[in-house]
Amino acid sequence: MMVGKEQELPEGWQGEVLVGGVGVLVVRYEGQFYALRNNCTHKDFPLLGGEVALGRITCEKHGAKFELSTGKAKTLPAVKPVRLYRTEVEDGEVYVSAL
Ligand code: FES
Repeated sequence: MMVGKEQELPEGWQGEVLVGGVGVLVVRYEGQFYALRNNCTHKDFPLLGGEVALGRITCEKHGAKFELSTGKAKTLPAVKPVRLYRTEVEDGEVYVSAL
């Protein structure tokens, strides 16, 4: 699934794309692109728009933090990892696909 042109997605950008009918959050952080299922593993709240710091995104609902590079839950109340997707940049376009 194409996300967009790399040069049009600035540092800190977040968006959602559908991969196989599933909403996937894409985040640009420190120049890299990360993609995670856009549902918190605590109560399913969307992660899109959550604060990103120290390589982690915070669920705005109850404050769980997930590591962008692994999907691992780093802070309660979430304990299960969020599903990770592959990101690739090819010819200046950013793509997300299932791992
Ligand atoms: S729904 Fe995300 S922390 Fe509760």
